Amino acid sequence: MASRTIVVQPFDLVIVGATGDLARRKLLPALFQRDRAGQIPPGARIIGAARRTMDTAAFRAEADIAIGPAAPTPEERARFLARLVYVHLDATGEAGWKELAHLLHASRAIRVFYLATGPELFAPLCEGLARHGLAKDARVVVEKPIGRDLESAMAVNAAIGAVFPERAIYRIDHYLGKETVQNLMALRFANALFEPVWNSAHIDHVQITVAETLGVEGRAGYYDTAGALRDMVQNHMLQLLCLTAMEPPTSLDADAVRDEKLKVLKALVPLDAASVAERSVRGQYRAGAGDGGPVPGYREEVGRETRTETFAALRAEIANWRWAGVPFFLRTGKRLPQRISEIVVAFRPVPHNAFGQGAGLVLPNRLAIRLQPDESIDLWLMIKDPGPGGMRLRQVALNMSFDRAFGVRNPDAYERLLMDVVRGNQTLFMRRDEVEAAWRWIDPILAAWDASGEPPRPYTAGTWGPAGSVALIERSGRTWFEDGSFEDATGSPEAAHG
Ligand code: BG6
Repeated sequence: MASRTIVVQPFDLVIVGATGDLARRKLLPALFQRDRAGQIPPGARIIGAARRTMDTAAFRAEADIAIGPAAPTPEERARFLARLVYVHLDATGEAGWKELAHLLHASRAIRVFYLATGPELFAPLCEGLARHGLAKDARVVVEKPIGRDLESAMAVNAAIGAVFPERAIYRIDHYLGKETVQNLMALRFANALFEPVWNSAHIDHVQITVAETLGVEGRAGYYDTAGALRDMVQNHMLQLLCLTAMEPPTSLDADAVRDEKLKVLKALVPLDAASVAERSVRGQYRAGAGDGGPVPGYREEVGRETRTETFAALRAEIANWRWAGVPFFLRTGKRLPQRISEIVVAFRPVPHNAFGQGAGLVLPNRLAIRLQPDESIDLWLMIKDPGPGGMRLRQVALNMSFDRAFGVRNPDAYERLLMDVVRGNQTLFMRRDEVEAAWRWIDPILAAWDASGEPPRPYTAGTWGPAGSVALIERSGRTWFEDGSFEDATGSPEAAHG
C-alpha cells in the first residue's frame, strides 16, 4: 500500500554534533529516507556542525557511509549528499559561529537547530545562537538526558527557555515517534469500542515491558551515570503510561494532548521510602547468555564496582477517578532474554462462569499492543474450541500485524519526528512541565534507593531480571506476561473462572 507523502516547507536543519553517534546512526539515515520518499523539498539544506576540523566533502563521505547501503539509486544518494554542508564549530569558543551565521542569514527557510550533543552543551549552544542572532524564529531540538533529577532538569530547561520560547522547543522522546505508540491514540480515540471499558471498572491492571537483549554496547560511560530508571522509565516508559492512561484529548493539538499527559503524571501516587521497597525492584546483570553466546556482566563491562541498575520494575498507581486501584506494572532491562516492548491491558474476568468445570478456564480478555520487534495489536478473547464434543473454551488472539496488514517499510521514529519539527507540530514532543513532572515522580525513588544502602539485585544475563521482579507483581496476585507463556498465562490466579 502506498503511503501518502506530504512535502514539507524548505528548511535549513543544522545538526550540532553532526559527527557524533546520534547523527550517524539515526539522524542522517532518517533524513535520507525522507528525501528518498520525496518529502524534502529542493533547496533544503542539512548543515552539519561539530568540533572536528573537516570540510564538506569529508562530511559527505562520512554521511555516505552513515546512510548505509539501503539499496538506493546513485541519483538518490547524490541528491541527498548534495544537501549537506559542514561547518567546523566550537560550541564554547568562537570558531565557526560567523561562518554558520553567514550561511544562514540570507536564508528565509525554516530554521532548525538539532543539538545532538551532550546536555552540558545545551546552555552554551543556545547562548551562542542568541549572541550571533541565529535564534530568532528558529526551532531547537534536544534529546534526553534532560537533567538527571528535577533540579538539573529545571536548570537545563531554564537555559534553553532563556533563548527559545516553549513553542520553539522540541524535546524528543523517540518512543513517541514509533508507529505503534501513535497507534495507541488511534486505537483508543478512533474506535468507540474501547473507551467505555477503559477504566477501573473493567481493567484489572496494565503491564508495560520494554525488554532489551543488548547490554550497554560501549555506552557504559553515559549509562553508568544514568541507569534504567533515568534512561528508560523517566521518559519512554512514563510516556507509554501517559498515552495508555490519559483522558481523551479534545484534539490532537500539541497542548491538548500534552495537557492530558501532564494530568496523568501529576496523578501518579508518589513512592516514598516506605513504599519503594515493596513497589520497586532494581537489578544488575551478571555474566550469562546473550547475543548467541556467553556475555560478560555489567561490572566487567564498566570495568569497576558499580551500583547502577540495568533493570527496574515498578508498581505505579494513578490516583484519579478512572484508574484508582488499577496497578500499572512497569518493567525494563538490558540483557533480558528477548527484545520485546509491549503494553498489555488486562481486563477483569467475566462476573460469572456459565460453562462449568469441563469447559476449561474462562480467562480474562487482554489487549496487547506490541511496539517491537514486530508491531502488532492482539486482542485475546475466549471462543469455543471448534468441533463436536461439547463446550470447551479456548483463548485466541484477534491479531493485527502491521507488517502483514500494510506490507510497508515502517519508518524509523526519527523520520516522523524530524519532519514534525519542520512542520511545526509539537504533539509528539515533551513539554517542559511534562519532563519536570516525570522527574518529580522519579526523584523520590532514586533517593529511596540511595538511602537504602542496598546494591541492585543481581540477575544472570539472558533471564527476566531478579527474582524480586516476579515477587513484586505476584504480591498482587498477578504474573508478568512473557512471550511464549503468553497464551497460557492466566494473568491473575483469582481472575480466571474455572
Ligand atoms: C534509548 C536508551 O533512549 O532507548 C537506550 O538510552 C535504549 O539505552 C534505547 O537502548 C531503546 O530504544 P529502542 O528504540 O531500541 O527501543
